[in-house]
Amino acid sequence: MIILDRLSKHYGQLEAVADVSLKVRPGEIYALLGPNGAGKTTALRCLATLLRPTSGTASVGGADVQRDPLRVRSRIGFLAASMGLYERLSGRELVEFFGRLHGLDEVRLKERVDELVALFGLDDFRGRYCGKLSTGQRQRVALARAMIQDPSALILDEPTHGLDVLSGETIYRFMAEERNRGKAILFSTHQMAEVELLADRVGVLSRGRLVAEGTVEGLVQRTGAGSLARAFLSLVEEGGDTPVGRDFRVVGEGPRGGTEA
Ligand SMILES: Nc1ncnc2c1ncn2[C@@H]1O[C@H](COP(=O)(O)OP(=O)(O)OP(=O)(O)O)[C@@H](O)[C@H]1O
Ligand SMILES: [Mg+2]
Repeated sequence: MIILDRLSKHYGQLEAVADVSLKVRPGEIYALLGPNGAGKTTALRCLATLLRPTSGTASVGGADVQRDPLRVRSRIGFLAASMGLYERLSGRELVEFFGRLHGLDEVRLKERVDELVALFGLDDFRGRYCGKLSTGQRQRVALARAMIQDPSALILDEPTHGLDVLSGETIYRFMAEERNRGKAILFSTHQMAEVELLADRVGVLSRGRLVAEGTVEGLVQRTGAGSLARAFLSLVEEGGDTPVGRDFRVVGEGPRGGTEA
């Protein structure tokens, strides 16, 4: 289970993430939506232990990001566009390198690397250094790297950014399979189509605040919008001033989660 509990992150005076609480259960895909600058990357980086929260907490499988960052890191696969790859390693070498860092023994390492190379098609550009790969190819290597220790939670910041349709499909299929294997998946995106395809639940961030949360159908129904894109627009324009519904709540008005572990 991924839990954010009243998480805030300030940069000086700016409240990039403000009092955000949400949960992602095992076997669930949760999509984080929000306009540019809404705080998605900041929230995900706090969860990945790369940023220290200003207040509130975040945890993965009971491990707290501040008290137990190493355990959190062993439990998550984190993917972000800004992540560097070692330029002078091939995709396979890079994935192997991270497998060793995670302490996989050589037999398991080879097995797992072969699996990931096949899954993400890394042999398509075998023998080429990461420094020479295209955006989408780098993204595929970064995903394989993030998955090396078969983590129980996935934190994916715009996982399909810059990918062609085929590579995007590979990632959708991968995310759906991982969900079916019981993983908790939290991802951010600007693509409404992938939210409709994948997300069990959606949270909408606006200026650092979680202004709405629910299923795609719930958001569309309760906003009276004809589509997720329109629901999203009305939510970020209104800043969350919408009625509370059954499978949809306007955060701050409904009962807040965060009590069960
Ligand atoms: N290191 C930083 N120092 C100061 N301000 C920052 C820093 N990183 C992000 N911000 C600001 O925090 C706010 C949230 O940024 P963040 O990157 O989390 O947004 P986002 O929702 O991921 O946006 P996008 O959709 O463009 O990726 C923005 O106003 C941004 O300018
Ligand atoms: Mg971002």
